[in-house]
Amino acid sequence: MCGIVGYIGPSDALPILVDSLKRLEYRGYDSSGVALLNIDKGRIVLNVQKRPGQISVLESQMEHIDSSIGMAHTRWATHGIPNQINAHPHTDDKGTVAVIHNGIIDNHLKLKEELKSKGHVFLSQTDSEVIPHLIAEEYKGSNGDLFEAVRKTVHRLEGSYAIVVLHRDHPDQIVCAREKSPMVLGKGVKGSFIASDVTALLKYTNRFLYLEDGDMASLTRDGIHVERIAGGPAERPWKEVEWSLEDAEKGGFKHYMIKEIYEQPRSLHQTLSGWRSEEETLPKSLSKANTARIIACGTSYHAGMVGKYLFEKYTGMPVEASMASEYRFADHVREDPLMLFITQSGETLDTIMAAREARKRGSRTLSITNVLGSTITRETDLTLYLRSGPEIGVAASKTFTSQLMMMYLISSYVGFSTGYISRDEYRSVQGHLRTAIRAVEGVLKDVTKVMGQVEWFKGAENAFYLGRYINYPTALEGALKMKEISYIHCEGYPAGELKHGPLALLTDRTPVVALVTNDHTYDKILGNIGECSARGSPVLAIAPEGDREVSKYTDRVIYYPQVPPLFSPIPISVILQLLAYHAADQRGCAIDKPRNLAKSVTVE
Ligand code: M6R
Repeated sequence: MCGIVGYIGPSDALPILVDSLKRLEYRGYDSSGVALLNIDKGRIVLNVQKRPGQISVLESQMEHIDSSIGMAHTRWATHGIPNQINAHPHTDDKGTVAVIHNGIIDNHLKLKEELKSKGHVFLSQTDSEVIPHLIAEEYKGSNGDLFEAVRKTVHRLEGSYAIVVLHRDHPDQIVCAREKSPMVLGKGVKGSFIASDVTALLKYTNRFLYLEDGDMASLTRDGIHVERIAGGPAERPWKEVEWSLEDAEKGGFKHYMIKEIYEQPRSLHQTLSGWRSEEETLPKSLSKANTARIIACGTSYHAGMVGKYLFEKYTGMPVEASMASEYRFADHVREDPLMLFITQSGETLDTIMAAREARKRGSRTLSITNVLGSTITRETDLTLYLRSGPEIGVAASKTFTSQLMMMYLISSYVGFSTGYISRDEYRSVQGHLRTAIRAVEGVLKDVTKVMGQVEWFKGAENAFYLGRYINYPTALEGALKMKEISYIHCEGYPAGELKHGPLALLTDRTPVVALVTNDHTYDKILGNIGECSARGSPVLAIAPEGDREVSKYTDRVIYYPQVPPLFSPIPISVILQLLAYHAADQRGCAIDKPRNLAKSVTVE
């Protein structure tokens, strides 16, 4: 969950490191630090500076050091509170080795005891601090070979790590290694780079090498060398990434999230037009599938839940959607022939571990991600790409609607392959998706409709989001969006369940958002709105344009452009994102970096 960057080359390292680190701040923002090697009075010095708080604090307080080799870290605390001592980089007690780390070292207590018995003194409460101390120990027996000392060290680590190492005796070398935490290398005209993900480095290069678990690398002024930690070569291809720097910047918007909300007509078009090439990669054996399971976390799980309804509709087969963190620990009575893993980042550890488990059990595994070369692409048999462009805001927006689109596409494709629906029906899904994109454009053009309701939400402390059938997961996602960025406690609920308990919580201070769809659930949801109004709760209905009934039940309605009811989650989700965004903005919340959260959850 932390962000790491490294640089070696002819340029001034510090501005490159700070600029790249800021682009990773969505991964962690409770403290940050840099380490640089420079020459002072003829001696090589390992200079470490770190501060609690956001990167801007470090930036404003740090001393400029002339150096062409260094590394930097932004932290999301797991072991030890966010303060200066626990911030990375960490060093050994002689200050010769510095390490930045993303991940968790499970056996750090045992290692710490062993190192203490050899006289090592520890300053922080972190698990990471054992790493530089271990490297210092191993370095003694490695004849001054830093690469070998790091190799011997990581052999002793249990858990997950992406580490970058600098040593005072090696002013022309950075060593890094990865196991279950993301790390990419970049090669630019002016030097070589390391980062947790490509968005950090788009300003400097679009040529990337994705390290795999069990890989380590040495970056020198002459080039980059990658090996397996266990020994032996690691042939990893260099890939060109199509994302531009502009894609990863705010472009005049106040927050990444609102920029990403507005990008949805484009990102949805990209997902849809990319489907043609994705379709060609799908194996013919999908036509034999008779059950499926969809696994994901958070917002991606909500997309998976929508997928469950769609698979059942278009394929007639029973489908389960499970949270990755639960699936892994469940007792499985049968193998699921088709396992679908949805992860925007491709780095969510719970989802990756679930994919690994499923593969071990012999299931066919398919992943849906937005990030080229991310870990999930190696852990599954086949990957479909969302093509949404980089998403920086911690709260997922454009990738969610692209995930939804992918659910319509893949479920109808499987339905067509198994003969459950006709070719015409399969093609008509794509026509309806184009209608849904136009509906999203309509929502974004008429944002005043949403703005008019934001004030009403602003003072709320608790709220309910109700939906039925395909819009039950949409309600869950709307509630998640509102709670994660505005800190208003919201619960998404299947509307029919309200009377089985939660109705007790409704008062005239509990806003209810009800999602209305013109399908077989229509009368029932109107009834639920009536139930809430009767308890004095103010209800905001999100209903299709042209509806004449809903306004008889509540005078607060946001209308969305007409789409076939099954496709309504797409425009409704955009309305709910706007509602959450503007409510959070009015409350003055840190929208792109909500407290305690990080974009990629690379710890279990
Ligand atoms: O990268 P992933 O899609 O695997 O991430 C899963 C969740 O961590 C993520 O969707 C999270 O719930 C978002 N913050 C929601 O906005």
